[in-house]
Amino acid sequence: MSLEKNKSHYSKFAKLLHWGFVILFVYGVAKQVDNINQLEDIAFFRFEIYFALIFLFLLSIRFIYMKKTQRSSIPDDTPRVQKMAAKFVHNGMYILLAATVFSGLLIGLIFSLNLKNTLVINITIRIHEIVINLLYFLILIHVIAAIYHRLKKDGVWSSMVPFLREKKD
Ligand code: HEM
Ligand code: HEM
Repeated sequence: MSLEKNKSHYSKFAKLLHWGFVILFVYGVAKQVDNINQLEDIAFFRFEIYFALIFLFLLSIRFIYMKKTQRSSIPDDTPRVQKMAAKFVHNGMYILLAATVFSGLLIGLIFSLNLKNTLVINITIRIHEIVINLLYFLILIHVIAAIYHRLKKDGVWSSMVPFLREKKD
């Protein structure tokens, strides 16, 4: 399908949310808790909790806005299985982003209940780490799929990505 035929595109706000979240997520990972003992520092602990709550609030706004007002740029004539795969990866990323925050907040709650060095906190940390690793995996598939669409020149890449845009030829 040519780029002209693909009329769908994302609003400026949708792009701001998508790329704002990429920055927020990279920041969240970069400043990650390296060691459970760091949570003893009250200022650090508070910052971690506030960051997680703000992240969750913005994620809810993004999810509602995207589901209510935007739709995928994937061309109508794309095979059904491919459309379903895209939906699975997009929804999967939302679920795992939320699960990262919830499991992180749960660690915070257990920690503040003075249940440090217990099996329950170790299991929760394990879950937090598994969720994050699954999320990395989905993001990898997502970026590979975006590159595939760029090579296919079907307009999906340019509907969201502000660089290396397709030329209308
Ligand atoms: C933290 C990393 C990322 C996450 C969590 C993420 C998540 C998402 C989600 C959930 C959507 C569906 C629309 C929405 O609800 O916002 C989407 C769309 C899209 N993303 Fe990403 N994204 C990430 C990084 C990237 C990168 C690095 C690229 C390209 C280099 C990219 C390219 C696209 C494209 C082209 C679409 C439109 C797909 C369509 O219309 O079906 N994303 N992204
Ligand atoms: C948006 C929110 C969050 C993000 C993006 C995030 C990110 C991460 C990442 C990338 C890791 C390393 C995972 C790995 O090594 O496989 C991690 C580990 C961890 N996170 Fe989070 N996290 C978030 C919220 C929280 C919160 C709110 C807490 C608790 C107050 C927390 C506590 C921990 C702990 C204890 C570890 C394990 C550290 C260790 O290896 O001992 N996280 N987090």
